[in-house]
Amino acid sequence: MTGLGASDGGADGGPARHVSAPHIPVLLNEVLAALELSSGGDFLDGTFGAGGYTRAILNANPTTRVLALDRDPTAIAAGQAVVAAYGGRLTLVETEFSNMEAAAEEAGFAGFDGIVLDIGVSSMQLDQAIRGFSFRNDGPLDMRMAGEGESAADIVNSESEARIADILYHYGEERLSRVIARAIVADRTETPFTTTRQLSEMIGRIIRTKPGDIHPATRSFQALRIAVNDELGELARALHAAERLLKPGGRLAVVSFHSLEDRIVKVFFASRSGRVGGSRYAPMQAHQVATFKVEGKWPQTAGEAELSANPRSRSAKLRAAIRTDAAPQGPDEAVFALAALPAQSYRKPSSGKPSSGKPSSGKGKTGRGRR
Ligand SMILES: C[S@@+](CC[C@H](N)C(=O)[O-])C[C@H]1O[C@@H](n2cnc3c(N)ncnc32)[C@H](O)[C@@H]1O
Repeated sequence: MTGLGASDGGADGGPARHVSAPHIPVLLNEVLAALELSSGGDFLDGTFGAGGYTRAILNANPTTRVLALDRDPTAIAAGQAVVAAYGGRLTLVETEFSNMEAAAEEAGFAGFDGIVLDIGVSSMQLDQAIRGFSFRNDGPLDMRMAGEGESAADIVNSESEARIADILYHYGEERLSRVIARAIVADRTETPFTTTRQLSEMIGRIIRTKPGDIHPATRSFQALRIAVNDELGELARALHAAERLLKPGGRLAVVSFHSLEDRIVKVFFASRSGRVGGSRYAPMQAHQVATFKVEGKWPQTAGEAELSANPRSRSAKLRAAIRTDAAPQGPDEAVFALAALPAQSYRKPSSGKPSSGKPSSGKGKTGRGRR
């Protein structure tokens, strides 16, 4: 098991190296150290997956209890054996991690000594063609972690060209977003998109690659997966909920796999702790009191040994912080803005000429390239 940021092949969708991964939790030692487990307590694992973090947390101290969440019913079903093995110390709930406060209340937890999120899809999700996350395995164009709601096929077959372009651009940082969106809308009138192969082959005809490049569909598949599962909105809401649920001195550890997620975590911790890093993000206002304290090296990444044992750890970043005793703050608008699609960002080319299909070299405010 590993967290995977992109929708196939590896966290950055790198050149084909698809393997059925063993269940290797990413940055496990670093996460355990960040959570400070020696005195036991109550912990929340918002992304149970195969239970790698949960088991390690429970094993660290015999008095520890864990509330674990996952939105994927197959992860919950497979996790029942872990629940049974820990004799009442593990409560496993099928729900989104943004819903952690309601889940905690229902399960009888008053607050937590540590909360961990390991964002992304699991190897099990990626490896099952039927889930539709992978452009390497042909399957239905689905991508729903929870198995309900709007699928990737629903988006490409019914959203407007402008909306599809926005999704590909903002959630996939795909500079050919408009060209791909136009081709999707042209093709779908003839034949609606139903399979991962249909979409990845169509994108492959548009984007030329050289040996060693990432698969041309990597960014588009990442974008659709983020949109289908509202992954960035989930993360933004969960960070705020964790601030409300952590006890003073409690630890929040977040492992992310691509820059969109990591930027949200970084901005949230920076503004809540007053640690502004490169001053690019809004510093804490004078009237605010720090709700988190950041210590040590930031972010943490996989070392040589983990990288060679588990190549999928190469994009993982861990950011962790310690809750202070200050009261939780209101919503951080900068964090929610990073998670949202702009209301009206799509613009037709002003020349009226069709796009050349070449990526622009310009850099916008987000560093994602102008369109
Ligand atoms: C990278 S895996 C976690 C692996 C886990 N740390 C382990 O050691 O086995 C991510 C898991 O989080 C779940 N997930 C992703 N987003 C979620 C959300 N918003 N709410 C709840 N679960 C989510 C996925 O279904 C997946 O099972």
